[in-house]
Amino acid sequence: MLIRNEIDRDLPAIREVVTEAMKMLPQATGTEAAIIDRLRADNALSLSLVAEDGGEVVGYLAASDARIGAASGWGLIGPLAVRPPRQGQGIGSALMAEAILRLRATCKGAALVGDPGYYGRFGFRFFPKLRVGSCPPRFVQALSFDTRAPKGELIHHSAFGLEQQG
Ligand SMILES: CC(C)(COP(=O)(O)OP(=O)(O)OC[C@H]1O[C@@H](n2cnc3c(N)ncnc32)[C@H](O)[C@@H]1OP(=O)(O)O)[C@@H](O)C(=O)NCCC(=O)NCCS
Repeated sequence: MLIRNEIDRDLPAIREVVTEAMKMLPQATGTEAAIIDRLRADNALSLSLVAEDGGEVVGYLAASDARIGAASGWGLIGPLAVRPPRQGQGIGSALMAEAILRLRATCKGAALVGDPGYYGRFGFRFFPKLRVGSCPPRFVQALSFDTRAPKGELIHHSAFGLEQQG
C-alpha cells in the first residue's frame, strides 16, 4: 500500500470512498465529500492524502489550516475515511501516521473532532479548554507538537459550514 498526495484523477474515487465510509457514522451529515471539494476549490487543503492499493484508492485523509482561539498554525485533520471492506487493516493508521509526520514539520499541533477511542492511539487527547461550538468536549481532541495546551475554539475553515466565533 502506498500513501501519497492526491492527483486529479483520484477525485471521483476520493468522493466515493468518503461517501461510503461516512454512511457508517451516525453523526455524519452526508456533506463530507462536498466539504473536501470546497476546501480544494479554496486552495485550503494543506494535506490531501490517498491510500492506494492495487491501483485503487482505498483510503483518504484531508487536513486544513485551523486556529485555536487566537492561535493560528494548527492543522485540522478530517475527514478521514477508509473503504468499508478495507477497514481494520491498518489503512487509517497509515494515513494518520503520515499526516502527523507532515503536520509536525509545519504546524503547532494537529486537532480534530472524532472518536477518542480511535484517535487516542495516535496521541490525541481532550483538553479542558478546547472546544468546537456545542460539540461534546471529549470529541474535540488535539496533539500539541510543543508543550502548550491548546485553549479556545477550534476554528475550522468556512468550507465546513460551521457557525463559529473566535
Ligand atoms: C475510522 C477509520 C478511518 C479507521 O480506519 P481503519 O483503516 O479501519 O483503521 P485501522 O485499521 O488503522 O485501525 C483499526 C483499529 O481501530 C479501531 N477503530 C476503528 N474505528 C474506531 C472507532 N470509531 N472507535 C474506536 N476504535 C476504532 C478498530 O477496532 C481497530 O482496533 P485494533 O487495532 O485494536 O484492532 C475507518 O474505520 C472509517 O473510515 N470509518 C468510517 C468513517 C469514520 O469514522 N471516519 C472518522 C471520523 S471523520
